[in-house]
Amino acid sequence: MAGRTVDESERFSFEAFTRHPFFTEVNRWIVERVICPGRRKIVDLGCGPGAVTKLILERLGDARNAKVIGIDPSPSALTKARAAIHSKVVDFVQGSAEWVSRLVSSADAVVFLNAIHLVPDKAQVIGEIRKVLKQGGVFAFNTTFFNGAYVEGTSGFWRRWVVRAVQVLRERGLDVQHTATAVARQFLTADEYAELCVHAGFSRPSVELVRIEMTPESIEDIGRFSLFIEGALPGVPLEEGATALQEGLRRAMDETGFHNVPRNWLECVATAV
Ligand SMILES: C[S@@+](CC[C@H](N)C(=O)[O-])C[C@H]1O[C@@H](n2cnc3c(N)ncnc32)[C@H](O)[C@@H]1O
Repeated sequence: MAGRTVDESERFSFEAFTRHPFFTEVNRWIVERVICPGRRKIVDLGCGPGAVTKLILERLGDARNAKVIGIDPSPSALTKARAAIHSKVVDFVQGSAEWVSRLVSSADAVVFLNAIHLVPDKAQVIGEIRKVLKQGGVFAFNTTFFNGAYVEGTSGFWRRWVVRAVQVLRERGLDVQHTATAVARQFLTADEYAELCVHAGFSRPSVELVRIEMTPESIEDIGRFSLFIEGALPGVPLEEGATALQEGLRRAMDETGFHNVPRNWLECVATAV
């Protein structure tokens, strides 16, 4: 994130991706399972531009005694969230999962959607989240960047997309260390996530997979998101990375014949014991 200009944060925002209906579906799936009138103090960790915060508010209805705290390290994402959501129930706070227990305590629920894969030390962060929750409180998270996200027969497509993007960059004279892309992100399995939760003082989480169809437009949109570009093409400037991912996607789709691509979302809910 260091060195990114305000303009870049704006242009490479996550917001476009959040408008695809399947994205609402995978988030609503978990929000409906953990948000209920009895749970009043809710943390939307890694809230980004606020798509999940909106779903939480929708689910809470007119629960006036509720409090939702949206937390994100990105000032530009928080600016967007504050502009999109005007509710007395919500506070947006700049902060990070690594030290969330210094920002909030005694919460009934922490939702951490589409962000846990971005955290390098997941054990430490899940421990922090446990400290934030009351006993009996719930921790809900989802991600599509885990070991198990690729539906059978599609892993070649996802690999080829990045390989073709790297090829585009090289054709344009940019030297890319492709080996770096392989180690940039560690995808955990559902079992590994479950173990981390148990170790941090949660019950063994319920784990479910929700399968959705990603449209070409949605794949293009994720390829324009700063954190995705940095993960897929480490060290590549955002503008060049986004253009290469777009052209790489076209090539990968032509070569594999894929149009819509199915993908799994991991959905986990754990109770603090
Ligand atoms: C893909 S977006 C998801 C936003 C939102 N939760 C949603 O699902 O629409 C990931 C968000 O996680 C945030 N993030 C990255 N590292 C984080 C950390 N260590 N703690 C909390 N949030 C983090 C990013 O700034 C970004 O806004």
